[in-house]
Amino acid sequence: MNDLGSIGPVITIDGPGGSGKGTIAQMLASTLGWNLLDSGALYRLTALAARNHGVDMENPQALGVLAQHLDVQFLAQDSGTAQVVLEGEDVTNDIRTEEIGLMASRVATLPAVRDGLFQRQQSFKDYPGLVADGRDMGTVVFPEAELKVYLTASAEERAQRRYKQLQAKGMNAKLPELLDAIEARDWQDMNRAIAPLRPADDALEIDSTAMSIDDVFNTIMNAAEKRHLVKR
Ligand code: DC
Repeated sequence: MNDLGSIGPVITIDGPGGSGKGTIAQMLASTLGWNLLDSGALYRLTALAARNHGVDMENPQALGVLAQHLDVQFLAQDSGTAQVVLEGEDVTNDIRTEEIGLMASRVATLPAVRDGLFQRQQSFKDYPGLVADGRDMGTVVFPEAELKVYLTASAEERAQRRYKQLQAKGMNAKLPELLDAIEARDWQDMNRAIAPLRPADDALEIDSTAMSIDDVFNTIMNAAEKRHLVKR
């Protein structure tokens, strides 16, 4: 057991955008009553704060300082999703646009930004446990995690899911454009020099292309049970 072991186990869920990580992480955290870290939100918030404050996207040092000092709150809501508040303003929806996603992926290539967010991410580890969703949760931020999941789906399937989500919200979207954006972000996340997206050596890899959310959830819960992290 490591130093932090006494404050509860960690389940990490890493994978590309649109693989269902966010939904699964939320389901696990609420079923288990554990804490939840949406690390992608922190990169998205850094991108949004940079835009709001006119910070130059070519200035790694300024972006690193911004990341380290983000004034952000995650407020629990009845729906199970968190309200995201940046400098007193509700930005829950603002950070979810494709544009901010792509900007987040760009700032996430910078070591100064990753370092600036590192401790804040680790501080989410608390009793009775943590579900951490991101790209490098199992490889860099919580290498000691008791269960590491790498969740993927084909780019076409992820684009389709995103398309349906946007349509359900009454928003316009074009499938080929969504697919291009997904592939561009995958490439950027997988090919950066620092903490690239990849499965941890000891990760349980799940391809959700042909699986329902419930199937994915049950696969992870079974793995958690086998490791004596949860009882059902
Ligand atoms: O999971 P998401 O789509 O909200 O993440 C947005 C971007 O943030 C993603 O394209 C890359 C970056 N990110 C990262 O580099 N490391 C993480 N642990 C989480 C997200």
